[in-house]
Amino acid sequence: MDRKLNKTKKVAIVGTGFVGSSYAYALVNQGTVSELVLIDLDFERADGEARDLNHGVPFASPMKIKAGKYEDCKDADLVVITAGANQKPGETRLDLASKNAKIMTGIVDQIMASGFDGILLVASNPVDVLTHVAFKASGLPKERVIGSGTILDTARFRYLLSDYFHVDSRNVHAYIVGEHGDSELPIWSHVSIGGLPLNVYGKLNNFFEDRDMQAIFENVRDAAYQIIERKGATYYGIGMGLARLTKALLYNENSILTVSTYFGGEYGIDGVYMGIPAVVNADGVREILRLNLSELEQEQLENSANILKDMYKNLNI
Ligand code: 2OP
Repeated sequence: MDRKLNKTKKVAIVGTGFVGSSYAYALVNQGTVSELVLIDLDFERADGEARDLNHGVPFASPMKIKAGKYEDCKDADLVVITAGANQKPGETRLDLASKNAKIMTGIVDQIMASGFDGILLVASNPVDVLTHVAFKASGLPKERVIGSGTILDTARFRYLLSDYFHVDSRNVHAYIVGEHGDSELPIWSHVSIGGLPLNVYGKLNNFFEDRDMQAIFENVRDAAYQIIERKGATYYGIGMGLARLTKALLYNENSILTVSTYFGGEYGIDGVYMGIPAVVNADGVREILRLNLSELEQEQLENSANILKDMYKNLNI
C-alpha cells in the first residue's frame, strides 16, 4: 500500500473517553479526516459521541463519522488507541503499567485480526511502555507503531517559555524528551527563540533568571498532576496534540515531533520506546533526529531509558 497516495483519510479511535472524544472533536473541527470510526467497549457511548460529532459536520467540512467495531480498522490509515484506565490523583503513570498492558494486548490483537496494515498510534498511559507492548503484540514494523510520547510535554514547555518571554509559542523551539512522565528531561542545549539560542535571547531580557528556567521545567513535568488535582483528567491538550500528529502522518508532512519511538542504537540506547524528536510522515517515523546533547542531557536520557526498560521488563502480562 502506498500510503502517500491515499485519497481517503480514515482514522479509527479505540476508546471514546475524555481523551478519545476530545481528539475526535479536534479532528472534526480541523477537517483532518474523511472517515472517522469510534470504537469503545461501551458501544452506546461511542454511538452517542458519533451522533453528537455528526451534528457539528455542517459547521466544519464533509466527513463520515460512525461508531464501529474492530472490523472497521481493516482499511484505516491510522488507528489511535486512547483506551485504558487513567491516572488517579497521586498515582504515577508507571503505576498504571501492568493493568493497561493487558488491556493493550487485547485491543491490539483485535485490531490486527481485522487485517489492519496502517499506522498504530498509542496515547494510553504509561504511553512509552504501552507503545512497546503494542509494537510487540502487533508485529508491525517499528516505524509504524508510534506513541504520543512527549508531544504534550513539549507543547507545555513551549507554551511556558512563550509566556515567560512574551513570544509566540510557534517561534519557540524546545524539546522535552525521554519518558512521558517523571524522568523526562528538557533539552536546554537546543532551546531557541526565533533562531536565537536561549542564553543569547535570555541576556537580551533583563528579567531573565536561570532559576526561572528550572521552575518552568518543573511546571512542565508536574503539569498533569496539577491538572488532575483540579479537574480529574487532562484531555484537551493531548486531543489537540494527537490531531496535530495525525495531520503530520496522513498528509506526509515530514514534521519533527517528539513522538515515542523505538531506539535501535540512537544516542547509544537500544530496545526501548521513548519520546525524542523524530521526522514523521505517511510511512510513520522516518528518522530520529540526532541532537548533539550535553553530557548531563545524555546521562538523563539514559536514566529515563533505564527506568522504562525496567518497567517493561517487570510488566505482568
Ligand atoms: C498528561 O500528561 C496525564 O499523560 C497525561 O496530561
